[in-house]
Order: sequence, then structure tokens, then C-alpha cells
Amino acid sequence: MTKIFITRKIPEAGITLLKQKGYQVDVYPKDQIMSQRELIRTLKKGAYDGVISLLTDKIDATVFEAAPSVKIFANYASGFDNIDLVQAKNRGVAVSNAPAPQTSESVAEHTLALALALAARIVEADEYMRQGKYKGWDPMLYIGMDVLGKTLGIVGVGRIGGRVAHYANGLGMKIVYTDVARNEELEKDTGATYCVSVDELLPLSDIVSLHVPLLDSTRHLINAERLARMKSTAFLVNTSRGPVIDEIALTKALKEKKIAGAALDVFEFEPKLSSGLAKLPNVILTPHIASASLETRDQMAEIAANNIIDFFEGRMPRNSVIK
Ligand code: GLV
Repeated sequence: MTKIFITRKIPEAGITLLKQKGYQVDVYPKDQIMSQRELIRTLKKGAYDGVISLLTDKIDATVFEAAPSVKIFANYASGFDNIDLVQAKNRGVAVSNAPAPQTSESVAEHTLALALALAARIVEADEYMRQGKYKGWDPMLYIGMDVLGKTLGIVGVGRIGGRVAHYANGLGMKIVYTDVARNEELEKDTGATYCVSVDELLPLSDIVSLHVPLLDSTRHLINAERLARMKSTAFLVNTSRGPVIDEIALTKALKEKKIAGAALDVFEFEPKLSSGLAKLPNVILTPHIASASLETRDQMAEIAANNIIDFFEGRMPRNSVIK
């Protein structure tokens, strides 16, 4: 019998698909991130054939070495920077991701919610109310910024960045973007203007939103020098991967009001926050939930399960990430 291990509870939709195929499905019973040691112990003991892993599971040589029975790691995430693909390929282990079409919607909506919350100072104002500080209408209270007519700088216009551009266009924002190549369709649909580099985009933008995968070339893409290129009135939004921003440099820039604010769903040292970040009033923090809609998470579970099924039925997993 094919034995599948899932490293933490995921929506039932995916588990049902696997069980319908007659597979044995075991789910890590604790509601916490599995340590690598525990994962190895479990995979060894259970002699599993396939694993649905999460982006919090570090799947590297140690895991491949210790669990040779596992022939596929189907990551329950769009990203797969938690898995050593070179090691997987060398050992003939399949790896897939779960790029649910719905993910671009939920992440783009979350991005927009963060951008609007920054501009309208929603979180600071909510905190003020809860602390009982409101004494009556005040013409100068929590003055924010209208996004209409402002410029949104999008770094990376893949599926998610593209959706963000469409929403922002609907709000009457001007759009500038940068990517490895021009996207003429996006330009036609949203009036977006191409910038040849991040350096060109930053000084033009009132809000900067990051939508790139984590690669060697994107690690610390936003560093102290680039933060200095942003307008002092600008906001930075990150729903991509934490290490795309040098978080210590960002904390310093926010503290010194070099930029107006930031909203982060992902963190360089996740789940830890850089020292001082959480104390700043001009920051909004969410716990890596940009894709956490019911619709998206169900789709992700089904996609991860279907990749496993493809593999054990002798097909190439539809979302294989091994080149
Ligand atoms: C979440 O960050 C994902 O990669 O799906």
C-alpha cells in the first residue's frame, strides 16, 4: 500500500483525494511545525513513499539521506525554497509545488488590503480606539494618503504581481513595474509603465510591492541603498518571501522615517522578527497568511494531492519543479 505522510494538518479536500486512491495517509498529529529530527524519525519509522511538505519543513540532504523510501515531496506551497532541488534531482526524488490559480487572487487581495491599510492608517487608528484615546472628531487625526492617482511600483509581474496591477488600476493608481522582461499585455490592460531596474522604479513609487521568488539574485533585493532611493513618503509591502528585504536595514529606515511605513506578511528570520520591528507604529505585520483563504487553501490541498497521485500512477507530477 502506498503510504503518504503529511507534515501538518491541511484541508480535508486533499486528504480525501489520496484516501480515494486507497493510499494510507498519516498526518502529523501536533498543531506545530515539525522539527527536522522528528520528521526524519517519522519518515524512517513509517517507511513512507511520499510526503506532502510545508514551507516550514527544511528538506535537504539530511532528510533525503535518512528517508530513501520517499520518492516524492509534494510541497503544499507556491514557493519551494525550503527544498534542496539539486539534492533531490541527484537522488531521483520528485518535487512539486502547489501553485493554485486561486493563490494569485488571495495574495493580491491581501497585498491590496495591506497597502490600503497603510495608506489609511487603519491599524494605528484601531489601536488608538482600543486604548480608549478617542475624545472626539479631530481635523488632524490620523491623516493618511489617498491612493487615487498615486504610483504603485510592482517588482515582479508574474501571476500575483499581475493581479495586483489589475486591482490597483481599478483603484485609479498609476503603475510602474520591473521584471526580467517587459509585459506588453499588462501595459495594454493597466497602462503600466516598464522600468528597466528596481533602482529606476523605487524613486517613482508611492507604494512599492514585492512579488518575486526567493533566489540568490533576489535575496536582499531591498537593502539600505535601495531603501534610500524610495520617497520618504512611500510605503513598502512584502507578501513574497522575507529574505527579499534586508529586514534589519528596513527596521532602521522605518525608525529613522526614511520611508513612511511598511506592511509585511513574510519575515527574513521567520517566525522571528528583527529587533525593534514590532515596536514601530508605522508597520503592519501579518503572520504569512496572504494565501490563507478557504478557497485557495482547498485548491492547494487538492493540487498537492494530485501531484502525489500523478507520481504514483506513473505520470510526471503536473507541478514538478525539477528541471
Ligand atoms: C506561501 O508563501 C506559498 O509559497 O504558498
